[in-house]
Amino acid sequence: MIGQDILHASQLLKKGELVGIPTETVYGLAGNALSEITVSKIFEVKKRPVFDPLIIHIDTWDKIKNYASHIPDEFQALAKYFSPGPITYLLPKKNIIPSLVTSGSPMVAIRIPKHPITLELLRQLDFPLAAPSANPFGGISPTSALHVERMLGSAIPYILEGGVCQIGLESTILGIINQKVCVLRKGGVQIEDIESIIGPVDVQDTSTSNPQAPGMLESHYAPKKPFYVGCIPDLLEKYKGQKVGVLSYQKHYDESSIHYILSLSGDLSESAQRFFNGLHFLDQSSVDIIIGELVPDQGLGKAINDRLKRAAAKR
Ligand code: TXA
Ligand code: MG
Repeated sequence: MIGQDILHASQLLKKGELVGIPTETVYGLAGNALSEITVSKIFEVKKRPVFDPLIIHIDTWDKIKNYASHIPDEFQALAKYFSPGPITYLLPKKNIIPSLVTSGSPMVAIRIPKHPITLELLRQLDFPLAAPSANPFGGISPTSALHVERMLGSAIPYILEGGVCQIGLESTILGIINQKVCVLRKGGVQIEDIESIIGPVDVQDTSTSNPQAPGMLESHYAPKKPFYVGCIPDLLEKYKGQKVGVLSYQKHYDESSIHYILSLSGDLSESAQRFFNGLHFLDQSSVDIIIGELVPDQGLGKAINDRLKRAAAKR
């Protein structure tokens, strides 16, 4: 059920139930991060393999010390600008965090979501919320309560309505590798903005073999329909005769396909916000296959292109 009752959501969470929560990035499937039983429910409902760890969510930066044993100076500096906001910090965990949350890793991923409803919810709780994106494992991330309802509604008692997600892409995940800040997942905060505060950072092109980020699998965010990314006119020619859905950046390409245009004005923030909704829309439509094109590889475009490539990767 979708609703706006924060108190009801907090009561369910206190009882160990799961609740769909809005954030500025994507909707999360939230539960008490300190309860192993609840955390195991999250893995079960998402059908997520237990080797793929969960991010925990808190409402204020000063609480981070309750869950992490050391906070690097660079992260402190970034937190001044981006907390709350779409950055996740990978930190050495304290024992209070069950190892199920981190899939056995000594590191825990923590973030402070920038959404008034979820911040209010967190204030009513005396535990952090573990919350992966509220989609079945490997599928398209949800950016509205209705997306969550359609994918997981039958498995969870409540989804908090918080409108359409403002950013639309998951948080940027930062870790420290060889004593240097490293982007482990491109996301809602642009690398350029991070570098303007702490100087150059490393960027890891993640793959399945990467032990720092076991969940950043090559195939992810995938629609159920076949999805190809490339030059749209070429792909239209190649799949002539089939019913094609087009996820394009700015342009309308032909009359016979269903189009979802990310941003007519070529705005990458708008494209990010609309991206997952476009994939959901085309996947739900009557088309046989979906084709898409990369967007300019700058700013948020890098995070969009990362999702496009994973969504189109072989499963
Ligand atoms: O924006 C977001 O980050 C959203 C909202 C709901 O907060 N959450 C999200 O969670 O995207 P999820 O579970 O879909 O993606 C979390 C990613 C996974 O790829 C996982 O492998 C990585 O974070 N991660 C979490 N904890 C980790 C850890 N201890 N070590 C390495 N990677 C970790
Ligand atoms: Mg996810």
